[in-house]
Amino acid sequence: MRLDVVTIFPQYLAPLDLSLIGKARRDGLLDLRVHDLRGFTHDRHHTVDDTPYGGGAGMVMKPQPWAEAFDAVLGEAPGEGASPRARLVVPGPGGAPFTQATAHRLAREEHLVFACGRYEGIDERVYDHARDVFEGRVEILSLGDYVLNGGEVAVLAMVEAIARLVPGVVGNAESLVEESHEDGLLEYPVYTKPASWEGRDVPSVLLGGDHGAIARWRHEQRLARTAARRPDLLPPSAVLSGEAELPIT
Ligand code: ADE
Repeated sequence: MRLDVVTIFPQYLAPLDLSLIGKARRDGLLDLRVHDLRGFTHDRHHTVDDTPYGGGAGMVMKPQPWAEAFDAVLGEAPGEGASPRARLVVPGPGGAPFTQATAHRLAREEHLVFACGRYEGIDERVYDHARDVFEGRVEILSLGDYVLNGGEVAVLAMVEAIARLVPGVVGNAESLVEESHEDGLLEYPVYTKPASWEGRDVPSVLLGGDHGAIARWRHEQRLARTAARRPDLLPPSAVLSGEAELPIT
């Protein structure tokens, strides 16, 4: 999978060299390139922003460097010339929610381009222009209902959530199955040795070797946790049956 990130703070993306994502890059599973938006400016000060028309606080990102950055990342795509199926993601608090389902959908793309906005935002004409050059494949996605200083932290989170779903990036694919948000319920609690620590014992069902009982206990715990922490996620059937009204660990 090819990933391009355009930002005025390329160093912000340095963590993508670490851990499983870093290894996947070195193994050739991910071709991730970070581009400095200032490299697409032509003035002495490498200006990427200007004052907003109509007045108001802060600065707005200028359109021209973005247009040149898009041309560059599309032109650099593998194979012949422009990448025919690249999709542009612009993180922003005004976007549609980025969820596990979004991560799965984007993990099937062959080329994702992320545009990190800063300041008060990007000139609106950049989105119109992007819809032309990406042939409609443009989306604005939000991590949650809060405001970050820019798109970089959101891109770190989105790239990690997406890339770990690309086959081969996470060594043990089974560990992707029983996670929170994969089937609508939160994860069950986990324990390791010792069986008793500082007077706190591992639930006895986990020590007994009865796999049916363990599976039932884990399912109950998932329901109870979801009811306590994220009742909005519970399927109506679990609410009606009272299945979720168990004590949580
Ligand atoms: N940029 C600023 N705030 C953001 C958010 N909540 N999600 C994604 N990108 C952002």
